[in-house]
Amino acid sequence: MLGQESRKAALDLLQAGIERRGGFDEALGRAPFDRLPVRDRAFARALASTTLRRLGLIDRLLAAKLQRTPPMLVMNLLRLGATQLLYMDTPAHAAVSTSVEAAQAQRDSRPFKGLINAVLRGLERDKADPAKAMALAEVAPQIYAPEWLFNRWRAAFGEAAAVAIAARIPEEPGTDLSLRDPGEASELARALDADILAGGSLRTQRRGDLTEWPGFEAGRWWVQDAAAAIPARLLDVQPGERVLDLCAAPGGKTLQLAAAGGIVTALDRSSARLGRLTENLDRIGLTAEVATADAADWSDTRLFDAVLLDAPCTATGTFRRHPDVLWAAKASDLGKLATLQTRLLESAARRVRPGGRLVYCVCSLEPEEGEAQMRHFLDRHPAFSLARVADGEGGAPPRGLTFDGAVRIHPGLEAPAGGMDGFFAARFVRSETI
Ligand SMILES: C[S@@+](CC[C@H](N)C(=O)[O-])C[C@H]1O[C@@H](n2cnc3c(N)ncnc32)[C@H](O)[C@@H]1O
Repeated sequence: MLGQESRKAALDLLQAGIERRGGFDEALGRAPFDRLPVRDRAFARALASTTLRRLGLIDRLLAAKLQRTPPMLVMNLLRLGATQLLYMDTPAHAAVSTSVEAAQAQRDSRPFKGLINAVLRGLERDKADPAKAMALAEVAPQIYAPEWLFNRWRAAFGEAAAVAIAARIPEEPGTDLSLRDPGEASELARALDADILAGGSLRTQRRGDLTEWPGFEAGRWWVQDAAAAIPARLLDVQPGERVLDLCAAPGGKTLQLAAAGGIVTALDRSSARLGRLTENLDRIGLTAEVATADAADWSDTRLFDAVLLDAPCTATGTFRRHPDVLWAAKASDLGKLATLQTRLLESAARRVRPGGRLVYCVCSLEPEEGEAQMRHFLDRHPAFSLARVADGEGGAPPRGLTFDGAVRIHPGLEAPAGGMDGFFAARFVRSETI
């Protein structure tokens, strides 16, 4: 049986993931997680991720058994225990006893050992009761979403779409790959048991260590959600064009732009993340000029044929692979991020040559970060016009376009085929004359 160390790491991941944006990823890079053997890491990560995917429902089940909300540490121990009981292969007695042991290990949770034992035993009994088990399997999808986000999605996309989005939250998605050479799609699809998607991405349901999958070592593909691969395609980069990728790390889109033959400058504020970008370029066998700077006031004055701005955002569209974003996002983040996105767009516009293209994108479902940014930009910049994205262009799914020709994808689209992340992308062209 897996030890307390992996459960301690799961607790740290869960706490960090809920507390702040990016906390989950940070916790993956430090102790206790990074000290664990590989097998224990897989368990810790799966336990924390499953808890985050099911958190909306788990919290309701726990609330029904609690007279008042206990301290956060105790709540998180209960959440992890409930996840093991209800959604993982952990034997029930182990799910309960290891949760009680974990409570015993910390002074702040020790007084709550009895409560944890009683609540989890109650859940175990409910699970064994067929009527209650059936009710559990048939909950309304919106239970999985934080209420404030669900209300926002309903206001932005309508009730049916909001329910379809929420229904994706508990599901673990397949893995999408982008190819260095699109001509290898059929061969790699066979080797990886993958489907070829509309834009040319591959989708596989394989699990496990992907560094051992066919073609990884040779740098023939990289992991990139099918929706995330659309914005760079909209720039339609031609060999030899000068391309600027303004918020580039860890480099999924830089790789696409370089693979298309662009002479790419990849800029990011984070040197640590740029380190990953450089590793990715090396593995795939592509090159780019790499710059560490704040994109809002980068002193370089060159003009580019094509500019991509994949702006920092709440990332609420990426919950299929990063369920922590749902719980870490705060309404108060939206205003701050929207202000930053506006500044970054100003800077991006200054770097487009007359006649050149600019694509703005965010992996957010929130209109303030997408549609509203596009409209404000067009209002402020008469030199730029919106270049409509055609139906199916770049792999944009049917029903994935706004009426004015921007891309708006949400995870409820294409659900039978496995869905996609949420993304917004708008393509602008700068006039030749102004
Ligand atoms: C959505 S991620 C980019 C993902 C990347 N385009 C890809 O496809 O792999 C946003 C990036 O913006 C960077 N960033 C945030 N604020 C920035 C700023 N003011 N200037 C430059 N980069 C910034 C972050 O470090 C992060 O790497």
